[in-house]
Amino acid sequence: MTLAEDSLMRAVCLLSGTGTNLQAILKNIGAGNIPISLNAVISDNPTAKGIEKADTSGITTKIIDYELYDEKNIYHEQLKQSVLAENPDLIILAGYMRILSDDFCETFRGKIINIHPSLLPAYKGLNTHQRVLDAKETHHGTSVHFVIPELDGGPSIIQYRIKIHSSDTADTLKKRVQEGEYKIYSKAIKWFALEQLEMKNNKVIFHGDHLDKPILIEEN
Ligand code: GRF
Repeated sequence: MTLAEDSLMRAVCLLSGTGTNLQAILKNIGAGNIPISLNAVISDNPTAKGIEKADTSGITTKIIDYELYDEKNIYHEQLKQSVLAENPDLIILAGYMRILSDDFCETFRGKIINIHPSLLPAYKGLNTHQRVLDAKETHHGTSVHFVIPELDGGPSIIQYRIKIHSSDTADTLKKRVQEGEYKIYSKAIKWFALEQLEMKNNKVIFHGDHLDKPILIEEN
């Protein structure tokens, strides 16, 4: 490790699936756009493609297979200890599909960020693309937010918004939303790494000021 790497913030990524957000983040780290050291990628899912992507990039990976734990509190403790062992400044959830324990959220309060495919606080939970279509919404998008124990309930930092076209399906929305995710997640991570971003009293502080509403990026 070089001295420069030693002074970087340390990050851990948790994921369960494909890992395209991880890939976009790694690309930006590699290009020198995000001054952070991603030390480990941990998955609850042994077949997560994201783990292969991390392995290819030479990052330490760990599987903690959720299905193997009859007692889920032991899973949650294992996860917490594995993350603590990395001494992270930031925990990046990139398609991590389990609900974190309250204990985990409290232990790492202010250090966990997530990307959720909706314009929070609308459409928390799953199947957001189909749900916005069913509700005949005019707009959809994705949000990067700090994580608190309430599911998808932490304050949003940045959002990417798209107009819904009459031809859109859940698949086309997912694709357009994810294009935005690759842009906004790296921005938020960069701000955090540069200490321009923090959560205090469940509010986002950006450049020292309380952010009333998330930063909004519109699809071109
Ligand atoms: C993303 O669309 C994100 O919004 C949601 O999970 C998905 C993960 O996709 N939380 P990928 O694994 O990064 O491809």
